Amino acid sequence: MLSPNPILVALDVGTAEEAVRLAKTLGPHVGGFKVGLELMMGPGTATVAAVAALGQPVLADAKLHDIPTTVARAASQLGRLGARWVTVHAGGGSRMLGAAVDGLEQGSGGRRAGILAVTVLTSMTADDLAEVGVSGSPGRQTARLAKLAATAGCEGVVCSPEELGVIAQVAPRLLKVTPGIRPSGVTGHDQRRTAAPAEALQRGADYLVIGRPIVQARDPVGAAAAVLETTD
Ligand code: C5P
Repeated sequence: MLSPNPILVALDVGTAEEAVRLAKTLGPHVGGFKVGLELMMGPGTATVAAVAALGQPVLADAKLHDIPTTVARAASQLGRLGARWVTVHAGGGSRMLGAAVDGLEQGSGGRRAGILAVTVLTSMTADDLAEVGVSGSPGRQTARLAKLAATAGCEGVVCSPEELGVIAQVAPRLLKVTPGIRPSGVTGHDQRRTAAPAEALQRGADYLVIGRPIVQARDPVGAAAAVLETTD
């Protein structure tokens, strides 16, 4: 694990000001932040730079999927903005993943940064995969894509808590970043396949992406501290 604190807070808010305010408040209590599509499509990717400037690692959850050259250039831009990690859909294939790795390295200018491959979205079932021509279970497809990600030089994967075991088996060196985390007693919101923080860490997660249970809590610092307490 890269940080003694495994919590990456998903800053799923509408403005850069709110994201920075939350990141300042939560900074000493968490391991880093995730800036997702809502912020990148609204206030823009400058939000990545604004949050990164506070000093904690930032995961730019751009979920890139395009031709290798375009993905390499996009990853390079996010590296320039200070992203510690950038997400890319593993389904784009090994040439695209490799291009993302190279682009991010170039843009980061010697600062440590890595690509996280999104394997199978946690929202997808076996039926959804069949619809797009992929036969087999989400676990099997995840294993295939995780191997691809490792071979292409990705630092890690984003996966559901249920897939942690299979990834540890097929690609043990990959960093495992896991959303769908719900402390016990907290609503699942729209997440379907969830795990409690301690359970996900026991299954091998390196980082836990947690959004609403912390961001929408009346006391976000208290909520983050409560999550950490359960993982001791
Ligand atoms: O609020 P919550 O804890 O559900 O937030 C989880 C975050 O992780 C959201 O930003 C969501 O977009 C993201 N995510 C996810 N499942 C994935 C990939 C990313 O929930 N497979």
